[in-house]
Amino acid sequence: MALKYIDEAKLNGQKVIARFDFNVPIKNEKITDTTRIDSALPTIKYILDNGASKLIMMSHLGRPDGQINPKYSLKLVASYLAEKLKQDVVLTETAIDSSVKGIINLPKHKIILLENVRFHAEEEENDAEFAKILASYADVYVNDAFGTSHRKHTSVYGITQYFKNNSYGGFLLKQEVAALMKITDNPTRPFMALVGGAKIADKIKTLERLLVNVDALFIGGAMAYPFLKAQGKKIGASLCSESDYELAKKILNQSSAPKIILPVDHIIAKGADAPAEICKGFDIPDGMMGFDIGPESIKLFEQKIAPAKTVFWNGPMGMFENENFAKGTFSVAKILAELNAFTLVGGGDSVSAVNKSGVASRISHISTGGGASLEFIEQGQLPGIQALKFGI
Ligand code: 3PG
Repeated sequence: MALKYIDEAKLNGQKVIARFDFNVPIKNEKITDTTRIDSALPTIKYILDNGASKLIMMSHLGRPDGQINPKYSLKLVASYLAEKLKQDVVLTETAIDSSVKGIINLPKHKIILLENVRFHAEEEENDAEFAKILASYADVYVNDAFGTSHRKHTSVYGITQYFKNNSYGGFLLKQEVAALMKITDNPTRPFMALVGGAKIADKIKTLERLLVNVDALFIGGAMAYPFLKAQGKKIGASLCSESDYELAKKILNQSSAPKIILPVDHIIAKGADAPAEICKGFDIPDGMMGFDIGPESIKLFEQKIAPAKTVFWNGPMGMFENENFAKGTFSVAKILAELNAFTLVGGGDSVSAVNKSGVASRISHISTGGGASLEFIEQGQLPGIQALKFGI
């Protein structure tokens, strides 16, 4: 069965329940980045403009661990959606309390947002009964929550069993899958990837999968130090757990390891708040920590990546939240923007670096899913998307 998208659905007069990823950052009672909500608007508008009698939206926000917690309420999301859609959006008290059906059935309410599905432990447990209640609200199911589709949770996975012929992907999901397939299925070569961030353990499978497929793999950020140490370089007091060191050694022993390109110099300091200096060469002196790639590394990365026709980037090159250590990450964002290549950036930190450096419009695709885009690259599919295709 092929994956059906929303433009194939008959929506007229139908109640539609749709899962989105409205997991947006919130600070001081304000949404600080609305990208994930904005990216869902084409699907929301399509459902409303094509005669659906009701739109019931679901999302999680944060990780409230199955407890009702006002800190993780979707109320700001409901207000933002109402403003964007210029229509009322009713936020329910919880996703499954006894008042929900009454709200849905009231003719005056067309757009309903169920409160955070993760206020119920059953969401992450992929609970059949919870799925049945959610499914009972509607005739048609839509998944446009790409960023959550790597989770086997009720609202992205278990619920599909109740919509065997009536499950559809939304437009964001379609766009994300098409973009990621340019990386996973016969990428235009040379295909290169840049991976940074902290823990190798979290990205080991992606690294291994990428190494097989890429023509070059650049490793920066805190992830570079275990690799440098495994090559016998001195890394001073830089971050490097024993397990990451072992994983780096394992990767460096693979036959495809020569494709790895590591930093050749660093920005170092005694600590994150101490004065920063350039460390020429690979070796970091005792007591000093690496916090960013150095100027020679930026030059090397720029030169080696120039011929690329497909580039995937995940994870910052240094601790870019601190301006002393931001140059590597922002330079990489600019280098990607200048390339004549298909460029895809995924993962919260790299996306935020691309936005902050003002080059977002020159990146071919910015994924709304961090973990989801990595898992798609590892597995070539995601459980939430498989469930839409084949059911569970
Ligand atoms: C994300 O922010 O990557 C998605 O919303 C999934 O959130 P989770 O990692 O808490 O499942």
